[in-house]
Amino acid sequence: MEIIICIGSGCHLKGSKEVQEKIIAFINANKLEKEVFLKASFCRGNCQNGVSMSIDGKEIDHVSPENITEILTKFLKR
Ligand code: FES
Repeated sequence: MEIIICIGSGCHLKGSKEVQEKIIAFINANKLEKEVFLKASFCRGNCQNGVSMSIDGKEIDHVSPENITEILTKFLKR
């Protein structure tokens, strides 16, 4: 599974660094290091809906430090 998170300036201002840290903590806590690959991207052209992220190509808008754990739980614990 591939997660791509935007670290462009627009998303950075909306908390993408904190989202990134929470993704890493989630991966480690659930021992998903061999299954989930986290990548960073520059602006994805979706700043107004940031933080912008994709999981296996599915675009996910309005990601925040508050909702990232819920999103990951939904996608990763199927
Ligand atoms: S800065 Fe993230 S989509 Fe533009």
